[in-house]
Amino acid sequence: MRTTSRRICQALLLGSMASLAGIANTAPDAPPPAPAKTPFTIGMSQCNLGEPWRVQMNADVKAAAERQPELKVVFKDAQNDTLRQRAHVEEFVGAGVNLIIISPKEAQPLTEPVAKAMKAGIPVIVLDRAVLGDQYTCFIGADNRKIGKAAGEWVVKKFGGKGKVVELKGLMTSTPGQDRNAGFREGIAGSGLEILFEADMKWLEPDARKEMESALARFDKIDVVYAHNDPGAHGAYLAAKAAGREKEICFVGIDALPQEGVAYVAQGLLSATFQYPTGGAEAIDTAMKILKGETVPKKIVLGSRVFTRDNLVKGGDLIN
Ligand code: FRU
Repeated sequence: MRTTSRRICQALLLGSMASLAGIANTAPDAPPPAPAKTPFTIGMSQCNLGEPWRVQMNADVKAAAERQPELKVVFKDAQNDTLRQRAHVEEFVGAGVNLIIISPKEAQPLTEPVAKAMKAGIPVIVLDRAVLGDQYTCFIGADNRKIGKAAGEWVVKKFGGKGKVVELKGLMTSTPGQDRNAGFREGIAGSGLEILFEADMKWLEPDARKEMESALARFDKIDVVYAHNDPGAHGAYLAAKAAGREKEICFVGIDALPQEGVAYVAQGLLSATFQYPTGGAEAIDTAMKILKGETVPKKIVLGSRVFTRDNLVKGGDLIN
């Protein structure tokens, strides 16, 4: 063999040995290694991504899922449209996902598709807003009635048992709206607090602002606005500010995201906000248990804290 052809042969031999040893994979133009098989797919149906709290919930789900190499989560956003959300659940069933996580827009219309998924053998975790009945695997959320009651008691204490209240309610076809309303009424029962005006702002800041404009036009004296979420409290604050009355009213909200409600408290816009944890991490923990065949409780109740200007530094106070 001539020298040059011998060199070529040696080079070829070395090359194939290197690739057998896996060294060739480090070459810049080598194909990437095949992805690890993901044995579990979760379908996550979010009722909307228009509000920071829901964006946070999806981020919490994603972060927790990324810590589980065998999990893949497919996210769908129903854009606050109940029919679209029903279709999403049906699509997940059709696609044969291993588990569904749903944060439903409304209780009644989502009950049936969730029950059908269960019948098809797909476990369902219901997160934050409930469905009716018991055809789901596990519900995860904070106790909205308790939060509403704590808000009522907080207002009673702050105002020495007297005062005029505007209540801006979350969507009353959703369970948190119903429970935050009932709990608050329980919290102020027997006090001299009077609900002057109440309206369903459907969890939406622009609706809350409009409703508050009506309340301001009708009533000269308003002491406190209790809004079922922080976007609602902020909308009411903006309406009062535009009318030059924000300093005479105290605003209370729910959610307490650091970048939203807690920041409003720090800026002095809200007097208090009650934490409503997203439950994203707990949903993934629970999903892993279900997928591995472990039994999980039917209901997981998350805790809550109240944040006011006075307790911000220590990270709020636990409510009980
Ligand atoms: C977001 C939101 C939150 C609220 C929760 C209740 O859509 O309105 O602000 O706490 O839903 O389900």
